[in-house]
Amino acid sequence: MIFGSDNMAPVHPAAMAALAQANCGYTPSYGTEDAMKQVTAQIRDLFAAPEAAVYLVATGTAANALALSIYTQPYQSVFCHELSHVHMDECGAPEFYSGGAKLLTLAGDNAQITPEALHAKAGEYHRGDVHQVQFGCLSLTNVTETGAVYTPAEIAALTAAARTYGMATYLDGARLANAIVAAGCTPAEMTWKAGVDVVSFGGTKNGLMGVEAVILFDPQKAWEFELRRKRAGHLFSKHRFLAAQMQAYLQDDLWCHLARHANAAGAELEQALTTVDGFSLQYRRDANLMFAQWPRAGHDRAKTAGAYYYDMPGTGAPDDILGARLVCNWNTTSEEIAQFAALVKG
Ligand SMILES: Cc1ncc(COP(=O)(O)O)c(C=O)c1O
Repeated sequence: MIFGSDNMAPVHPAAMAALAQANCGYTPSYGTEDAMKQVTAQIRDLFAAPEAAVYLVATGTAANALALSIYTQPYQSVFCHELSHVHMDECGAPEFYSGGAKLLTLAGDNAQITPEALHAKAGEYHRGDVHQVQFGCLSLTNVTETGAVYTPAEIAALTAAARTYGMATYLDGARLANAIVAAGCTPAEMTWKAGVDVVSFGGTKNGLMGVEAVILFDPQKAWEFELRRKRAGHLFSKHRFLAAQMQAYLQDDLWCHLARHANAAGAELEQALTTVDGFSLQYRRDANLMFAQWPRAGHDRAKTAGAYYYDMPGTGAPDDILGARLVCNWNTTSEEIAQFAALVKG
């Protein structure tokens, strides 16, 4: 009954097997190995983007901060949601890697930005005023930090709004697989066809040991990304072990199967908990991640029996209603969901 984070899940056996396989003998290093050439070709194919540049890094924070840095000068801004990972959970890495760009935060339901909110915030700043930060780029997250999924149409509306200020769009795809599966679209539809310039395609939360692909749809940005990745200490010498994991992820659409399982588990968990008296969702759940609340006694029973998840404040509720962040993953079982829901129910 571990619903703390999809990061807490084990590595999928196919990824472990690929790592063991990659460990045989000697290979070129620093991403020059054949496996990386194959990964690039496969990702270009998957995203229907034959010109895209593809790089691997080991953490989502590195992917975010490096991707943002190639679209943001130190005197520019990153428009992002006030609950976004880049703003709340990266210890200033985007500011650091960009050389001091300013993060401008926007409010919005379900951790989603709307074009109206973007226009309103952009209206507070003036291009050409030397006293103000200049427009840099827009940063979106899909699945959002509270568990909702932007549709490709919503993303397209946002990237179009950003473009009116000359801004590119980055998509934090730590859970991109879950978002694509939930939206029922193709990777291309959720990214470059919707106007996204650069995206991270996360693997760590979806069964890999630690790999995120950064996909640049404008190959002219590739060299700058390479230099920044190296300078940041994120170019792995034994890169074959990153490439091997990503190969396993792409093989027979493993990414898609694992995300489908995690999302289905999320739906099953929500469904099982709706029968609990006093249960409500705090935000809309579209994929494998949810914020919910229910009476304290149910929390006590579940935790005493070994359930694990993050406590959250209850919202607009009596004091004995406590919140929880619950995350399902590729390995979540129906049995643990049923056991957990029965304990919460009492
Ligand atoms: C939305 C989002 N982006 C990025 C990350 C990447 O984080 P890390 O650097 O811990 O791999 C996370 C992890 O929690 C996340 O939830």
